[in-house]
Amino acid sequence: MNKFKALKEIITSAEISFLMEGHNAISARIAQESGFRAIWASGLTISASMGVSDRNEVSWTQVLEVVECMADSIDVPVLMDGDTGFGNFNNVSRLVKKMCQKGIAGVCLEDKLFPKLNSFLGEEQTLIDMQEFCGKIKAAKDSQTDDDFIVVARTEALVSGKDMTEALRRSEAYHKAGADAILIHSKQQTGDEVIQFAREWARRSPVCVVPTTYYKTPVEEYERNGITGVIWANHSMRASVTALKKITQRIMMERSVMSIEDEISSVKDIFQLTNEYQVQEAEGIYLGLREKAI
Ligand code: SPV
Ligand code: MG
Repeated sequence: MNKFKALKEIITSAEISFLMEGHNAISARIAQESGFRAIWASGLTISASMGVSDRNEVSWTQVLEVVECMADSIDVPVLMDGDTGFGNFNNVSRLVKKMCQKGIAGVCLEDKLFPKLNSFLGEEQTLIDMQEFCGKIKAAKDSQTDDDFIVVARTEALVSGKDMTEALRRSEAYHKAGADAILIHSKQQTGDEVIQFAREWARRSPVCVVPTTYYKTPVEEYERNGITGVIWANHSMRASVTALKKITQRIMMERSVMSIEDEISSVKDIFQLTNEYQVQEAEGIYLGLREKAI
């Protein structure tokens, strides 16, 4: 199945699905090998991997370049965090056309202002005018060059201190503008408000959540209440930061790599993740031809 169809099926299925964060090709590949059927290309962690804040310091073409590498190195589809769309409807339109050209299967757009600020920073973040955001959603849908490309509309209403009525009002408008799914974001410690949203939304369209702060809520609660997309949005990055800190500090202290050798991946593991052995096989075929000719 092509990646556009695959992501559409995953996001629109009545069954719950899990998207794992990736911030470069190797983290996306590891997530795929762990069994994830779709990858979340996170704005936060791609920015972090470049050493900058999650405030659109990284340009949209830089993000796209990273996400293209991710998509190229895996068989499962990528849902890209498109932040606010990097500008107005026109920027969204160009972004979506480029994504389709590069085989990136879907985008998530959020209803804040450019440059965005991460949802876990600042108390009351300013939301974009609702109708203007509907224009961005419509522009995204009108610009997709693959019928199965998906647009997830993310409302930051609850994150920015607005009430449930506003979150529902905005989501309904985005749904009518053509969004394939709604992402309801929350920074609460429990999943209560996203579950309340999903109950009131009553499966009008697929609902995705990002349980970063409310990680203790069991996924069965989402399943029971009509939440079908769960995005583990930053866990590959956080896992690698922990591992890197632990290992590099030990190497520094011990002035040796002897004690950590068995705790880290082998060079062979890296070769496997980067298709080194397939290239070796290909050499046998293509360079072999040359040797025969000689
Ligand atoms: C991201 O992973 O970049 C997200 C999720 O947008 S959050 O960090 O919660 O905003
Ligand atoms: Mg983001």
